[in-house]
Amino acid sequence: MTTDAGSRRYLMCRPTYFAVNYRINPWMDPTAPWDTALAVAQWETLRQTYVDLGHTVEEIEPLPGLPDMVFAANGATVVDGTALAVQFRDPERADEAPAYRAWLEHAGYDVQEAKFVNEGEGDLLLAGDVILAGTGFRTTHAAHARAQEIFGRPVITLQLVDPRFYHLDTALCVLAGSDGAGPASIAYLPEAFSPGSRAVLRRLFPDAVTASAADAAVLGLNAVSDGRTVVLPVQAKGLAAALEERGYRTIGVDMSELRKAGGGPKCCTLELRPGGRADS
Ligand code: ARG
Repeated sequence: MTTDAGSRRYLMCRPTYFAVNYRINPWMDPTAPWDTALAVAQWETLRQTYVDLGHTVEEIEPLPGLPDMVFAANGATVVDGTALAVQFRDPERADEAPAYRAWLEHAGYDVQEAKFVNEGEGDLLLAGDVILAGTGFRTTHAAHARAQEIFGRPVITLQLVDPRFYHLDTALCVLAGSDGAGPASIAYLPEAFSPGSRAVLRRLFPDAVTASAADAAVLGLNAVSDGRTVVLPVQAKGLAAALEERGYRTIGVDMSELRKAGGGPKCCTLELRPGGRADS
């Protein structure tokens, strides 16, 4: 267990206009019912959980017609006060990018253009000194190279192979070091990665927690850790037990409604890492 549980700053977007009316990942079924009020209630519990842990939660105004805007992790990647803007793969989400960009500029972050398909912290996860970067479904190799150039940190490309785990943050969670401080530790689902990427993860993180297929199937890895407490889907019982055994405290939250769009706690949460102007 590590102790980097300093106060974090998160950006979230209330799911006022949440819906599942298109399908851009296998979790989404536009013919099945969804409940926006329940999504809002689950999101509010998540937000309050962060506040109770002592973290700061900023909010961006949701926009009508953008049902996935609740997934703030896809709004940018923010490291050392610099924000790399996003460019969505799917036209359904395209208009979220300028909204997040404007929020970050207004908040004082140095915002850099995306240039390539890049879905933010969905695929780019800071883990200590390095950025773990998913590709295969959304974020492109070119975006990985751009992230390395913008942030000046080594970017480790990881190949995702299972369409259910279409963003890196559905298959891998940074347990310690998501703020860039101290040694990193992670939990992940090996089967979600190509053989070569599995070998890379084993080499870099020999002590990683490996999740079961059952935990991943409830999006258990879509979790948010401050280095001490891990907020994860309440249905991920096995993963929670494994994390407790490692000395982490866990808090289960029910995100069942947002899962219908393919999201969990981490998808709803963009970490704003300070530095430069935005820090003052
Ligand atoms: N429906 C959204 C999409 O497919 C869900 C995004 C979830 N976000 C995440 N960071 N994994 O784009």
